[in-house]
Amino acid sequence: MNNNGELEGNVVWHQSSIKKEDREIQHGHKSIMIWFTGLSGSGKSTIASALQHKLFEKNISVYLLDGDNLRHGINKNLSFSAEDRKENIRRTAEIGKLFVDAGIVVLAALISPFEKERLNARALYKQGDFIEVYIKCSLLECENRDPKGLYKKARKGEIKQFTGIDQPYEEPKNPEIVIDTTKLTVDESVEILLSTIFDKICLEQNTKE
Ligand code: ADX
Repeated sequence: MNNNGELEGNVVWHQSSIKKEDREIQHGHKSIMIWFTGLSGSGKSTIASALQHKLFEKNISVYLLDGDNLRHGINKNLSFSAEDRKENIRRTAEIGKLFVDAGIVVLAALISPFEKERLNARALYKQGDFIEVYIKCSLLECENRDPKGLYKKARKGEIKQFTGIDQPYEEPKNPEIVIDTTKLTVDESVEILLSTIFDKICLEQNTKE
């Protein structure tokens, strides 16, 4: 049985005696997934990392799943083909779900270029537990920033299947939050995110609802 009580093949879901809600009480806040999507160089990792720091300082149990870092370990066998990006998103969403079940506020920062896969990721979570943050930045600006020199290589054809160059990036249709990094500083972006997140993870407010 899965956690909805359905049988899946011959594998039976083992129900934990400790509920997510019990763990949230132990941590002192609700646990949610905050999913950052955007082009390479848009500022996802920078903002997510600064946000992680602020939340940590405020005693929130928080963990950042960064796409580049995951590709050094659990996702090291994945390429940048459309199929492998799908799998990258699926694995990250599943890992994040475990962290959220453990009572942790999870930040996931990966390009995640396809709307359908982001919707599939969202579907793994309870309503309200998945917050999509679109880190909006034009391709032109990302290319100007080019912090890792990858756009230059992609333009020269030295890197194939590069998002925005020879692979698409599908803008999110209904993200909870849009952060335009051509207009906002990192600090301003973090402040906006902090206020929204605090509302969502506050236990008292959420139990009163
Ligand atoms: S995703 O599309 O599968 O979600 P992910 O966020 O894990 O991508 O990895 C993107 C990072 O890999 C970029 O920040 C960049 O540093 C690096 N990278 C290397 N090759 C590519 C490529 N072809 N397209 C995009 N990013 C690439």
